[in-house]
Amino acid sequence: MTVRSIGFIGVGTLAKAMILGLRRRWPELEVQLSPRSERLSSELAAGDQKIHRWTTNAEVVAASEVVFVTVRPPQLQEALSGTRFRPDQLVLSCLAGISIAEIKERCAPAEVARVLPIPAIERCEGPIVLCPPDARARALFDGLGDIVDVPDEAALAAIWPCSAFMSPYFALQAALIGWTAEQGVEHPAAATYVRSLLKALATTSALTELADLDRLIEEHETPGGLNNRIRLQLEKAGWFAAVGDALAMTSRLRGAELTNQAKP
Ligand SMILES: NC(=O)c1ccc[n+]([C@@H]2O[C@H](COP(=O)([O-])OP(=O)(O)OC[C@H]3O[C@@H](n4cnc5c(N)ncnc54)[C@H](OP(=O)(O)O)[C@@H]3O)[C@@H](O)[C@H]2O)c1
Repeated sequence: MTVRSIGFIGVGTLAKAMILGLRRRWPELEVQLSPRSERLSSELAAGDQKIHRWTTNAEVVAASEVVFVTVRPPQLQEALSGTRFRPDQLVLSCLAGISIAEIKERCAPAEVARVLPIPAIERCEGPIVLCPPDARARALFDGLGDIVDVPDEAALAAIWPCSAFMSPYFALQAALIGWTAEQGVEHPAAATYVRSLLKALATTSALTELADLDRLIEEHETPGGLNNRIRLQLEKAGWFAAVGDALAMTSRLRGAELTNQAKP
């Protein structure tokens, strides 16, 4: 890995996970932090001598070969004001709904790509979407999860909504545990059972060839059995169609809409 210094403009939830994962993977990598989120950026810098907190975003950019932009879309303009980029730099934007062209307007003459990790990158796990494929970014993320190259922003827009199934997934977990506990099972037993079940299913999926993933449905049910009955009832209730509808709704959102409060 040839990149020696990376910077973060915006040190929030996602940046923290990326910083911890990247530092775990690359012991020699220097990390430059913007000063906002004072407590978090100060803690990260205090706990690792390779992490440096600067007083301005412009200093972060000047000290970095690869610059991650990890603010929320409405914060972008202010975050990049006063920064100057070089042609040898790569900017990796994590912002949902902001195009490469929009980032290039503010970061020229640097190269720009978009990256979509999930917070599990902290443990070097999970998907990392790169758009467009980029050799420097690929080297940086090597070993931090499953790199998924997509050729253009249309493909990125189609894959991005799936990342919004993190909290719905945990809500499903909570519903399974909650119903079981309501039937009288002690909460720790219900929680242990459901968590272990979901973990085992994820492992089964990970051990299955990509082309065979759909076969897991029939392999985990018998006609008239519990799995079959529950899947069919959920299908009848529009459960799986609702997944597609929710993904389509998310993919229509742009820029600042993505951080507005969702209407229940
Ligand atoms: N969280 C995820 O799982 C996830 C996944 C994929 C993509 N993303 C994208 O990643 C971006 C960050 O998400 P997040 O969840 O990490 O948000 P977040 O926790 O709100 O982090 C945003 C950070 O940007 C900082 N910031 C705001 N204005 C700034 C400025 N002018 N200069 C420097 N820093 C500034 C904030 O500091 P203050 O606290 O001081 O305001 C905060 O530390 C978003 O665009 C989101 O779409 C997030």
